[in-house]
Amino acid sequence: MAPQVLTKATGENNPLTDLQFYKDTIAGLTALPKHLNSKYFYDAHGDKLFQDLMNCEEYYPTNCEMEIFTTQTAEICQTMMGQGDAFDLIELGAGDATKSTKLLKYLLDNKTDFSYLPIDISENVISYLNMTLPVTLPGIDITGLNGDYFDMLKKAAAISDKRKVVMFLGSNIGNMPVADAELFCHELRKHLSPGDMVFIGVDLKKNPATVLAAYNDKQGITKRFNLNLLERMNRELGADFIVDQFDHYAMYDPETGACKSYLVNQAEQRVVVGSEVISFAKDEYIYMEISQKYTVEQTDELALTTGFEPMVHFSDSKNWFLDAVWQAV
Ligand code: AVJ
Repeated sequence: MAPQVLTKATGENNPLTDLQFYKDTIAGLTALPKHLNSKYFYDAHGDKLFQDLMNCEEYYPTNCEMEIFTTQTAEICQTMMGQGDAFDLIELGAGDATKSTKLLKYLLDNKTDFSYLPIDISENVISYLNMTLPVTLPGIDITGLNGDYFDMLKKAAAISDKRKVVMFLGSNIGNMPVADAELFCHELRKHLSPGDMVFIGVDLKKNPATVLAAYNDKQGITKRFNLNLLERMNRELGADFIVDQFDHYAMYDPETGACKSYLVNQAEQRVVVGSEVISFAKDEYIYMEISQKYTVEQTDELALTTGFEPMVHFSDSKNWFLDAVWQAV
């Protein structure tokens, strides 16, 4: 903590500039090309828009993964149960846990010896799960952990030395470029022991038109989902973006599997964000999000290069989505 006198003398006694959201925003908007981090999409408005997205016709990943969890519940749970020894079921980015509830119910019905440890960056999500799951799933042993994935994984390891089964669903890994995904899996492996398992949900490469449509829906929900981050800056950082002046541009490159979203500014504007003034030229873009797509082979490769052995592949009937099971070696 900086001494009071110093903060006063430098005129930096402003809680806004202490915010990680503010710091990341300024760093991203003063860089070239301008970019923002899609993890900031999810404020209360963003959560609601993402719910709408999951219900829209073109956005297929959630439905595909739900199909996997609904039609192959027993096989998935049997894989987790292994030899029947007790385990900690850790979920990274649990959200409302709709998908995992399918599995939790099966595990409870089969008197499985396990604890559920959902991890989420949203305090809201964790207190909601801690309150509601014991009601909807009587008998569940739940400890929700609010914080960063790896900090909370450390905490989970300190709570018990049971074997770990980690779920990272919904193609959340797609929000990292491939090189970062590799670093992430490497780091994840460091927090696990041989024999521990990872269930990872990955969106697969498919007809490029299908992918693009999912990120460029006709109703414009994806556009509003992206624009909400600018609105959030206006709300929380006191910024003055003329939000209507940005158009949404989505592109998918079938060769790299990268699906990217941009917001393109259509007429010059200067935006005040805290103590900074940021100029946007006409046609200048902000890179907002990547949703990386993989082949099954690429996910096997990712496992093998980061200290895991691919065990099982669970896919939907269209083979659009993969829940891969990896074992730490
Ligand atoms: C929640 C990260 C899986 O990338 O598909 C949906 C977010 N972005 N539409 C995805 C998102 C635009 C989504 N994930």
